[in-house]
Amino acid sequence: MSRIVIAGGNILEGEVNVNGAKNAVLPILAATILNGGINVIHNCPELKDVSASLQILEFLGCEVKRQGKTIIVDSSNIKDYRVPEQLMREMRSSVIFLGSIISKCRKAVLSYPGGCEIGPRPIDLHLKALRQLGIKINEAHGYIYCDAARIDANDINLNFPSVGATENIILAAVMANGTTIIRNVAKEPEIVDLQDYLNAMGAKISGAGTSVIKIEGVEKLHDVEHTVIPDRIEGSTYLAAAAITGGTVKITNVNPEHLQAVLAALRECGCKIYVEKNTITLSRTSTLQPVDVIRTLPYPGFPTDMQAPMMSVLTLARGTSIISETIFENRFKHVEELMRMGADIMVDGRVAVIRGVEKLTGANVNAMDLRGGAALVIAGLAAEGSTVIEGVHHIDRGYEKIEDKLRLLGADIKRVD
Ligand code: UD1
Repeated sequence: MSRIVIAGGNILEGEVNVNGAKNAVLPILAATILNGGINVIHNCPELKDVSASLQILEFLGCEVKRQGKTIIVDSSNIKDYRVPEQLMREMRSSVIFLGSIISKCRKAVLSYPGGCEIGPRPIDLHLKALRQLGIKINEAHGYIYCDAARIDANDINLNFPSVGATENIILAAVMANGTTIIRNVAKEPEIVDLQDYLNAMGAKISGAGTSVIKIEGVEKLHDVEHTVIPDRIEGSTYLAAAAITGGTVKITNVNPEHLQAVLAALRECGCKIYVEKNTITLSRTSTLQPVDVIRTLPYPGFPTDMQAPMMSVLTLARGTSIISETIFENRFKHVEELMRMGADIMVDGRVAVIRGVEKLTGANVNAMDLRGGAALVIAGLAAEGSTVIEGVHHIDRGYEKIEDKLRLLGADIKRVD
């Protein structure tokens, strides 16, 4: 089992390139089965969740090739509509294959994704909406059986703007009979990227990025080539690393518009931020200031995926900050680990009160989930002495070679196998 070992205290300086977005490439890979043809996807990060998606595609009958950051999927020979349990278990978000498999094969069998590190991940909104498209769904013995002689367009209202449910409905409705309208959808940039991808293969979708999406069903889709948008969470994580250590770091290949909520919070902490077309430079020379309240919200609010990394930054602020986690109910597992490093944090339900301390001290800590793991890396960079992080496989789900990128910025960090 790998561990990450950090000798804290180095100031970060330099430039780091941001990869393609994990949360954009995953639904796009699920969408590749729709065209029954060639999909060329550029700017794909090398991550465990991406490999898990490719394994599912191969199981379904796709031919998959990777050439550096480009993935080519030939989906002209789909042979199966079932995703076995062990592949589903590799990655919770594999439930987005439901929409594309049912769309293409008119049948789908997937195991229920169940709960995960950050709490239960219900899919009631996905299933309710798919039923509204005329898909028959039976849940039995941990499996979801879907059947649809035809998929009929409908007007759908989501109770909550779920990212995964929005993607699943889009994928299921692309080739439906008629025009589907979905209201109260997620507005995340990754949904816009999925729309762009599908439209590039001949779909007729509009409205992504607003709260209403319209999908005119089409009969056929064709070959497609696409470049995935930059990963706003990876980029934000490196900015948080620069904020906690001090120094000046430029992230390149980003869309600054996608990071506005995080940039506002970092400015409140006393960081200076310079935005250019595709780059953001963060510089901190004065002490870290606390924030009033950060409330995680659907986009364009503060992303829940940055809650943990931001909390690490706030542990060293000159005063008390409050974080309210409104999206996931069990996303404070990093708190106990940060406290082992000397942080002063009190959690009451979904609210964390962070009282800034003078210093963090290196400790042996455990990454319990992906973003919580990133938070521990960030804390370790600023801690006095050595921090050893276990559970690195969680971090590898969402960050490509995090230790190499941070080392290039001047951190003393290594992976030990
Ligand atoms: C996606 C992202 C994840 C991010 C999250 C919120 C991917 C691969 N993952 O996850 O990184 O943290 O958006 O921005 O894109 N819910 C229900 N019923 C449902 C669906 C969701 O109750 O049927 C609840 C969830 O339990 C959670 C909230 O809605 O409390 C948000 O979930 P959702 O937006 O669906 O997140 P994911 O798509 O799973």
